[in-house]
Amino acid sequence: MWKPEYSVGVGPIDDQHQRLFHLFGLLMDSIHSGETESTLDRIFVQLRGYVTSHFRFEERLMRKAGYPALEEHEGLHDKIRENLCEFRSQFNKARDETTRNQVVDAVVVFMNQWLVGHILGEDQKYMPHMDNPEVQKLASAYYHDEKG
Ligand SMILES: [Fe+2]
Repeated sequence: MWKPEYSVGVGPIDDQHQRLFHLFGLLMDSIHSGETESTLDRIFVQLRGYVTSHFRFEERLMRKAGYPALEEHEGLHDKIRENLCEFRSQFNKARDETTRNQVVDAVVVFMNQWLVGHILGEDQKYMPHMDNPEVQKLASAYYHDEKG
């Protein structure tokens, strides 16, 4: 569950983080209710797709904010993306139940660490830099676009 103390002070990013928690919750529920492989894979793809667009948005805002540690942060995002791709291919390659469960366990540990660890540890570092009119402009455009 997302908590108010995870806030990075930028509305759309907080919303996206909440959505990531939600998708992760769906994945957990599907695992616990013994959903089929294809359902798990579909949620996995959805999660990875959302992570990718979230990172793109976050990187755009950090760039606008002139965040000095942008490159380093982008590197962390690349690593997370690579890990998710790797997990999916391991999951699809797993031939038996035990191996599949091991991959699922690894994903759960990774997502737990990443969602809380990365948001609290890394994302909150850019917080002071986001108080910037250009960033606010992009953030309100996001809501405007969302409403269509
Ligand atoms: Fe991030």
